[in-house]
Order: sequence, then C-alpha cells, then structure tokens
Amino acid sequence: MNKLLCCALVFLDVSIKWTTQETFPPKYLHYDPETSRQLMCDKCPPGTYLKQHCTARWKTVCAPCPDNYYTDTWHTSDECLYCNSVCKELQYVKQNCNRTQNLVCECEEGRYLEVEFCLKHRSCPPGFGVLQAGTPERNTVCKRCPDGFFSNETSSKAPCRKHTNCSALGLLLTQKGNAMHDNVCSGNSESTHKCGIDVTLCEEAFFRFAVPTKFTPNWLSVLVDNLPGTKVNAESLERIKRRHNSQEQTFQLLKLWKHQNKDQDMVKKIIQDIDLCENSVQKHIGHTNLTFEQLCSLMESLPGKKVMTEDIERTMKACKSNEQLLKLLSLWRIKNGDQDTLKGLMHALKHLKTYHFPKTVTQSLKKTIRFLHSFTMYRLYQKLFLEMIGNQVQSVKVSCL
Ligand SMILES: *[C@@H]1O[C@H](CO)[C@@H](O)[C@H](O)[C@H]1NC(C)=O
Ligand SMILES: *[C@@H]1O[C@H](CO)[C@@H](O)[C@H](O)[C@H]1NC(C)=O
Ligand SMILES: *[C@@H]1O[C@H](CO)[C@@H](O)[C@H](O)[C@H]1NC(C)=O
Ligand SMILES: *[C@@H]1O[C@H](CO)[C@@H](O)[C@H](O)[C@H]1NC(C)=O
Repeated sequence: MNKLLCCALVFLDVSIKWTTQETFPPKYLHYDPETSRQLMCDKCPPGTYLKQHCTARWKTVCAPCPDNYYTDTWHTSDECLYCNSVCKELQYVKQNCNRTQNLVCECEEGRYLEVEFCLKHRSCPPGFGVLQAGTPERNTVCKRCPDGFFSNETSSKAPCRKHTNCSALGLLLTQKGNAMHDNVCSGNSESTHKCGIDVTLCEEAFFRFAVPTKFTPNWLSVLVDNLPGTKVNAESLERIKRRHNSQEQTFQLLKLWKHQNKDQDMVKKIIQDIDLCENSVQKHIGHTNLTFEQLCSLMESLPGKKVMTEDIERTMKACKSNEQLLKLLSLWRIKNGDQDTLKGLMHALKHLKTYHFPKTVTQSLKKTIRFLHSFTMYRLYQKLFLEMIGNQVQSVKVSCL
C-alpha cells in the first residue's frame, strides 16, 4: 500500500515537472465554442488579467491590472486581486503595492511575526549568547556560552565573547572567568603606575660577573646551554634578545633562569642571599627621602647618558619614596648599555660635593656601595659559576653544582 502510494506520488511529481518544463508560457485547456474544440491557450502573466480566451486564430488577450490591483502568478483569472491598503500594528511598509505584488509589510526592527502579532525578539540572559540573531520572521536563538566564552549582558544581539587572554597581553590572570564573566587580568593600568624595577641593584651586583668583557654573538646561547637545571626556552631567549641590549640580556636571562629553577637547592640559596641584600640596601638608602631637585642633581652627576627630567618626574609619581632612587639608577643603567651602577655611583659621589648634598644621604650611598662590593657570597658564586661555565665550554660534563 505504502509502496504504491509512494510510486504514485513519484509519478505525479515527474509528470508535473514534465508538463511545466515543456510549456512556456504556461498553458491551459479551453473549450472553444466556435470550433467545438479543446484549445491550449497561454495563461496570463503576473500583473495582468485575462481579457479574452484564445481562439483557433487569436492568442489569449491579457490586460494590465488597474491601480491598486495585482496578480503575482501566471493565471487564468479575469480579474486582478485588490491590494491591502494598510499594514498591521507594529509593521511598516516594506514594498508598496504594484501590479505584480500585494503590499508587503514587515515587523518593525527588533520584532518578529508570530501568527498575527509582531513580538519582541528574545534577549539572551547573562551566560547565554546569541547564536542566530532574530529576523522579522524568526525569534532570536540563544545558546549557553561554552568553555572559554562569556556573556555578561542581557541582549538580543551580543554573541558569547571569548575570555580575554591575559598572557597574550603580557598580563597576569587574577580571576578566572566563567560563562557570565570575563577573565580578570592584572598589570594593565596598574603596572604602568607601579614602579616596576626590573633588575634590582642586588641582582645586578650578583649577576654582574656573568657579563663578559667582550660579547660574542652567541654568548647568550652559551650561557643558556651551560646553566644547570631547567633550560630557558628558545622563545623566551628570543624575546630577551629582542627587548634588551647586551648587558641587560645577561641579567634578564639569569633572572628568568633563577625564577624557573627557584625550587632547586642551589638557586634557593641564591634567592635567599639576594633577598638579604635587598633588605640591606633598603636599610641603607630606603629612607633617604630625596626631593625632586636632589634626585635631579644625583642623576646629573652620574656619568654617561643622562636620565631625563621627565623620567624623574614620572618615577616620583609611580614609585614610593623608598624606591625612587633605585628605580632611577636602574633607568640610568639601561640607558647606558654596559655601565656598572656601582662604578657610576662612585663617580657620582665624587661630584656630588658641589651640589651641597645632605651628608646623611652621601654617607648612606657610600655604605650601600661598600656593602654591595662585599656582597657576602658574591665572589664565591662568581668563582663557582665561571668554573661551571668554563668546564662546560671545554665540554666537560658537569651535572649540577
Ligand atoms: C513591483 O515591485 C517589485 C519590488 O520592488 C518589483 O520587483 C517589480 O518589478 C514591480 N512590478 C512592477 C510591474 O513594477
Ligand atoms: C593565549 O595566548 C597565548 C599566546 O598567544 C597562547 O599560547 C594560548 O594558547 C592562548 N590561550 C587561550 C586560552 O587562547
Ligand atoms: C562586561 O565585560 C566587559 C569586558 O570585561 C566589560 O568591559 C563590561 O563593563 C562588562 N559589562 C557589564 C555590564 O558588566
Ligand atoms: C618625604 O619628604 C616629603 C617632603 O619633603 C614629605 O612630604 C613626605 O612625607 C616624606 N616622605 C617620607 C616617606 O618620609
């Protein structure tokens, strides 16, 4: 039974296709009283009505629809249809009536037609985003935001948005997002206001021995290969090379290596020593509350390229008073490529006398220099490090210190 019905439908379908395909313009059967014969007459096209059936001698006569009337198909009707004159509530006229089409109405922006009424498009609540925006015919389709996406608004337009990639922006992820909230990164506006001393005086003093007197092009790679523990990867190495000049590259590399190996005993000891050093430096010069003029004089008396007054102003805004001098010294070092901050400071001290500098400050500076010079384990590490690296260069395998 089913099979029969199915075959019959297929047959019907085929036959309809066959007739419509074969005849254009479309035709209809008409009994012609004059000749008493069945004739195949042309149908009338959209925009017209049938004025006279065809005869054996004449074709079908179609005439244009009058104003406010239309026909929109090939047909055999002897009259046109009357156009609607107005749209429903909350609809606007999309296309006016003409001879080939009725007045076309559409729901206003933000609404869709449901049976007879123009209803508001659904808004997707927080946690859901728009998968398909609503159209005049269809409501909005919402979908729950998948992992890694969020929507924090009620909206009929907004799709789920990707969580901000903090690390790609060089920021820290401080609060992981969910379907309703974005990731929260830290560092952006904060860190530009934060003082941010990158390599401290103590780190400089500690790692200075590793800065060679003459740089070879592959120096940094040699250092990477010979440092024990977790290796600094090639990507980070490239980033350091791109961002820093040669002396600074060594500091940055050792700083990163220290961070990556902070759980190894040898590195733990180094970190402790550096922390002790930082405390000591703070004790000596952390309380020297220098005025803008004094900071300017001090910077002026350092050799080489000068730190600009704008940088001093900016530093005074961004840094606490106990960090200002240290920050400026690190700016000076970066500006002066291969200078040693301690040597610079000693040079400055000789010249500061002419600036009537407070004696307590010059004394604190002297103490700091002396302390850093005698930085307890500094020379010992220096020896160990150089031996290690030296051995490696001579391809003697050293597993770890
Ligand atoms: C009626 O309007 C439609 C849409 O603008 C257009 O495509 C069609 O050609 C018009 N018909 C006539 C007869 O002007
Ligand atoms: C964030 O960006 C980093 C670097 O561009 C990329 O490696 C990482 O896959 C990204 N994370 C996500 C969750 O897209
Ligand atoms: C939604 O999240 C964006 C991006 O984090 C934020 O800029 C916006 O203020 C948030 N909007 C609301 C209503 O919380
Ligand atoms: C530093 O000195 C300035 C003015 O001389 C003063 O206003 C400020 O409170 C001082 N800060 C500290 C931490 O002593």
